[in-house]
Amino acid sequence: MKYYILFGPPGAGKGTQAKFIVEKFNLMHISTGDLLRKEMKEGTPLGLKAKELIENGNLVPDEVVVGMIKSTFANNKNVEGFLLDGFPRTTAQAEMLDKMLQEQNEGVDKVISLAIKDSTIFERIAKRAEIEGRKDDADPATIQNRIDTYHQKTEPLIDFYKKQNKYFEIPGEQTIEEVFDCICKTISK
Ligand code: AP5
Ligand code: MG
Repeated sequence: MKYYILFGPPGAGKGTQAKFIVEKFNLMHISTGDLLRKEMKEGTPLGLKAKELIENGNLVPDEVVVGMIKSTFANNKNVEGFLLDGFPRTTAQAEMLDKMLQEQNEGVDKVISLAIKDSTIFERIAKRAEIEGRKDDADPATIQNRIDTYHQKTEPLIDFYKKQNKYFEIPGEQTIEEVFDCICKTISK
């Protein structure tokens, strides 16, 4: 079983690239953001709990997302591998993922990181706000909080995975096709 992580700040292009990657490499896409938005849309207890946190640009508790990942792994035993998009996002999540995979004699294969400037994040999210209508895209203060949260809580994972020799960074400010080409080379090498 392959386990790839697609890493990067809000608006880096994780969701955009994930669609192409899973098709080419025959993986299952797991986006914790998409899973949470589904819960919110369906009005489940989890969705109701997550709503305020997400709409203010804060992370949901580690246990919640780890639980979602665990059950997705458990319910999909017959796939060739997984592409994790937006998970892990804290050191605690990364440690829990390592433990979960070690228990099955598995491990993270590669972390593919899309690097992008904060100013580009703003431009891309503002554009997407007009198309998708995500509440967490609507307000500049929320976008800023998501970026700050990324720098504070998620960026430390770069060193976490560098120490494991699993971290591969790709310039995210190229065209969608160019980014995809770099990702393919990184996965294949
Ligand atoms: P999540 O849904 O994961 O959002 P995010 O990380 O903020 O990332 P985005 O989905 O905004 O961006 P993306 O990188 O997918 O970019 P996209 O491809 O859309 O999380 C949402 C919330 O859920 C979090 O804030 C948190 O509250 C909660 N959550 C989720 N996971 C969690 C976890 N593990 N722990 C705790 N809480 C969690 O691209 C953006 C735009 O740019 C698009 O319009 C696209 O068309 C465009 N674009 C993409 N690539 C290019 C390019 N190369 N050139 C030009 N435009 C491009
Ligand atoms: Mg996304």
